[in-house]
Amino acid sequence: MVEIEAPAKAILLGEHAVVYGKPALAVAIDLPLRMRLLPAEGWRLDQEEFQPRRRGYIAAALERAWQGGPLAMTIRSSIPPASGLGSSAAVTCATLAGAMTLAARTWDSRALASSAFDVEWAVQGAASPTDTSTIAHGGGILLRPAGSESSPLIDGHRSPLWELSRGARAWEVSAIEVPRLSLVVGNTGVKGRTTDLVAAVRARTEQDAAARAAIERIGALTMEGTEALLRGDLATLGQLMAEDHALLRSLGVSHPALEALVSGAAPVSLGAKLTGAGGGGSIIALTDDVERTAHAIVKAGGMPYVVEVDRQGTRVVGEAP
Ligand code: PMV
Repeated sequence: MVEIEAPAKAILLGEHAVVYGKPALAVAIDLPLRMRLLPAEGWRLDQEEFQPRRRGYIAAALERAWQGGPLAMTIRSSIPPASGLGSSAAVTCATLAGAMTLAARTWDSRALASSAFDVEWAVQGAASPTDTSTIAHGGGILLRPAGSESSPLIDGHRSPLWELSRGARAWEVSAIEVPRLSLVVGNTGVKGRTTDLVAAVRARTEQDAAARAAIERIGALTMEGTEALLRGDLATLGQLMAEDHALLRSLGVSHPALEALVSGAAPVSLGAKLTGAGGGGSIIALTDDVERTAHAIVKAGGMPYVVEVDRQGTRVVGEAP
């Protein structure tokens, strides 16, 4: 038996623009998913027959990492699904880590991030490695196009982790030292479909110069926000999150329920924005008063989660012969 824990993730700055080679800043957050895998007589998931066609991420992960016999798997997740918080990447990382551990293969977060990105790409199509790298490694993650210019401040606080590429795109993934942050997630309960939202932004950028300018500005403000974070200037980081939200709204990926949560949380936060693909899903608020921000999210019709940065990433939490 092996038991794996994987965190959720929140993108602080840069979603959607990262698809076009811009940077993204994300943190792993302590909404854990736990998965147990145990060799068994037949394939099971949560006491029922495992249906690979209905569980594409798990099936694709097992195809890559497991050559053994049937497994009984159970998943306990505190990550709301299809909510921009990385539940698919968490289940992918947990399945891969569990299968490799059961097979007595050594693995590290680099191997995990690379395989998890392969799985996400196979199941979902075009994606950036933001979710999978953040959930595999934990902490703060800065994704940039490989070979990008940097600044002394960022270079002084970043540890290069790995590079991943697909076709013409190559991303450099770094760990960024993040201080303790007070963050509140607000889930709308409306499910957004990442593939549709990414396609809608693509169509807009092909037709509309303002959309292309918005992508450029998101790229620039992501670097400004990363510098603000590293200086400990959370007021500026919050303002840039608010600006990022306005740009994402202009790209058409917001939703009335997201607007309600952002409007409710903003007056009692340093900054609030949608996080992930949008179209529903969640907001993330940076605050110095988690109670008031959580209360404002409830009043605006959302489900609040007060979260901390997870520093450990995907890990083995239990093992028995
Ligand atoms: O909603 P999520 O957690 O799937 O995040 C999507 C983030 C995008 O930038 C919109 C797409 C990507 O692959 O980076």
